[in-house]
Amino acid sequence: MTKLTMTVNGKDVGPHEVPDDLPMVDYLNDTLGLTGTKFSCGIGVCHACVVMVEQPDGTITTRRTCIAGATSFAGAKVTTVEGHAKDGKLSDVQQAYVDHFAFQCGYCTSGFVNAGTALIERLRKAPVAKSQVEDTVHSGLGDHICRCSGYVRYYEALRRLILTDPTLTKEG
Ligand code: FES
Ligand code: FES
Repeated sequence: MTKLTMTVNGKDVGPHEVPDDLPMVDYLNDTLGLTGTKFSCGIGVCHACVVMVEQPDGTITTRRTCIAGATSFAGAKVTTVEGHAKDGKLSDVQQAYVDHFAFQCGYCTSGFVNAGTALIERLRKAPVAKSQVEDTVHSGLGDHICRCSGYVRYYEALRRLILTDPTLTKEG
């Protein structure tokens, strides 16, 4: 057993005594009651279970929580899908997915929200040439599997969001 603490959605959580082999998705779902992070394939393929992790230098990365132990997140700053809306208002990425009818059952959506947001945060620090936006969206979302909606609307939503924010792109 390990005594586990971390920051989730801006709040310190723990210490919780957890088994050393407890998957992070189970810690989020069962210990913290954050059920927006979904267990789907369970073998690291579909990326439905992805959360965001803030690195010490402020960059945002994503991690799969079905194949990673909760203890491997000790001390980390984690954001789940529950941490995106502020004061009842959806984030820009969430709203873009809604506006584009990007999802149906929604099982994959929290992963797409975290991946899309991590990509936007990356572009805030390093804007991409307009000609590269298509490839950038594909590299940001390409690992995520959706069995309902056929991807096109997720990709279009993120593409639009990037192209309508002049701080995220540069000429070229
Ligand atoms: S549930 Fe984690 S990658 Fe599929
Ligand atoms: S909306 Fe159902 S799996 Fe993506």
